[in-house]
Amino acid sequence: MDANLMDTNLVERLTDGIFSKALQVRRMIQRGATDLMHLPLAEIVALSERVEALLTPQQLAEGLETVGRQRWHKPTVEMSVRDGYAEWSKQYDEEPNPLIALEEPVVLELVGDVEGKDVLDAACGTGRYALLFAGAGARVCGVDGSEEMLTHARKKTADGDLTLDLRNADLHTLPFEDESFDLVLSALALCHVPDLSPVMAEFARVLRPGGRVVISDFHPFCLLIGWRTCFDRPEARYWIENHFNLTEEYVRSLLASDFEVTDLRESVVDERVAGILSDHDIERFRGWPAALVVAATLKEGE
Ligand SMILES: C[S@@+](CC[C@H](N)C(=O)[O-])C[C@H]1O[C@@H](n2cnc3c(N)ncnc32)[C@H](O)[C@@H]1O
Repeated sequence: MDANLMDTNLVERLTDGIFSKALQVRRMIQRGATDLMHLPLAEIVALSERVEALLTPQQLAEGLETVGRQRWHKPTVEMSVRDGYAEWSKQYDEEPNPLIALEEPVVLELVGDVEGKDVLDAACGTGRYALLFAGAGARVCGVDGSEEMLTHARKKTADGDLTLDLRNADLHTLPFEDESFDLVLSALALCHVPDLSPVMAEFARVLRPGGRVVISDFHPFCLLIGWRTCFDRPEARYWIENHFNLTEEYVRSLLASDFEVTDLRESVVDERVAGILSDHDIERFRGWPAALVVAATLKEGE
């Protein structure tokens, strides 16, 4: 970094990823954040000091404003579920996801021991849960409507030397016989489904009597306040088509398919997203429900 930084391309240079991060840190320091130890790149702090030393207060303010404008006002692009996950699949596993950080511990608690069970991961994506359950001794099938997401799941299955039956299929028409599974897990996918009832009926069909379903999802509260399933790229924020269903609809559609709802959790924003969301956002959204997790058991025949 030298005096060339002060050229007419200053604003462009500042929006480059590393400068953007450095300025983010600078902004956090300005706001009085004292605990920055969770930041993955401690040297960014030093870099932010160098940026500050090289810039006049006015240049710093301009840079901050430009970075902020680009972050919050970059174009948004609507995508279908199919196209959205085809693109997101390329980095889905690498990008820290605050929703997963809030959802996964609750799901694992409600799922419990899966050893020796027949498990369906419905909308398995890149195989986050399918692989975990296979590793824990379950016989696992996974379905997803995105071939690109499944490609990653297949690769990880091979790399992990695990056996999984992964198929490209829609949640509305599961390619399995009646009463094939002890557990159906469906994570973060039903927010893409307009009507929950036919999907819950499919889950009931493929479960054995007494079998369990555990569903996690983007909390409808989030969709109501305008948050969306999305991923960021430097040029734009991509929004994947969502459908809004009240919490009540998750429960009602399960009851209508002969399930008994045994648990319902609303996982709220807290320290579990430290390092993924900024300290400022954690304080701002603390206590807001981000993930909905419902567990239910299919009634035994009369
Ligand atoms: C946010 S990802 C979640 C993936 C995985 N369950 C996880 O939690 O990491 C949502 C997944 O749902 C799949 N999906 C959405 N609607 C679907 C449908 N109607 N049938 C099958 N898959 C669907 C998408 O292709 C995508 O892989």
